[in-house]
Amino acid sequence: MRLRDLGFSKLTYSEIILTISHDDAINVAPMGVLLEDDKRLSLRVYKGQRTCELIVKGAIDCVLNITCSSTLFYDAVFKKSEISYSPSETVSSPRVRGCDAYVECSVIDVEDCGEYVRVLLKPQLIRVSRKIIKAYNRAEPAVIEALVCFTKILHLIKNNVEMAESLKERIKIFREIVYHSTRNKKLRMMVTEILERAEEVIREKKAMDKH
Ligand SMILES: Cc1cc2nc3c(=O)[nH]c(=O)nc-3n(C[C@H](O)[C@H](O)[C@H](O)COP(=O)(O)O)c2cc1C
Repeated sequence: MRLRDLGFSKLTYSEIILTISHDDAINVAPMGVLLEDDKRLSLRVYKGQRTCELIVKGAIDCVLNITCSSTLFYDAVFKKSEISYSPSETVSSPRVRGCDAYVECSVIDVEDCGEYVRVLLKPQLIRVSRKIIKAYNRAEPAVIEALVCFTKILHLIKNNVEMAESLKERIKIFREIVYHSTRNKKLRMMVTEILERAEEVIREKKAMDKH
């Protein structure tokens, strides 16, 4: 199995769930990955996040957990402590249980690019646990897009409330898509919670600015 067969590309970010460990600390978070060449991948990890902290402290490996499950993406942002792990075969960072495939990687370079660090990865092992054929649905990607907006709000709320507001409006659109395309209660609950959390973050920031 080659990286390209798993959907990795030089042009388009593939969204995965990254597990990374350093000493006893383990962190999990959704991240975008680009193919650099046939043997290397790269991440752009923004500063101020725990993932970045572990990388800068010297984490030597990580796992790219591949899944389309919006629940796993949601848990990786909001319910990290409920994520269940299993050991990897070649690296110290664990896998997230229940994913479709895993790419175990060594960290081979970390470059400081100001707002973010660029992390170069060398895959050590690719393991496909499930070959899935699943028809596309609109609800799960909409939940993941709403999560992207929410995590961006967290990143820029300090300096740009206007942008945060406009991202919140986008989350409302994704919520409409979810409600329009599924009766699944869990998906509806997740997107509603994402919107409520976004509203809360913006409300708190505005209240602080008033004082
Ligand atoms: C689908 C998706 C893709 C993301 N891609 C990135 C990324 O490439 N780089 C990044 O720094 N943050 C990215 N994020 C945001 C982080 O996952 C988010 O800020 C997370 O809460 C960081 O967790 P941490 O502080 O535990 O590291 C992404 C979020 C989502 C939902």
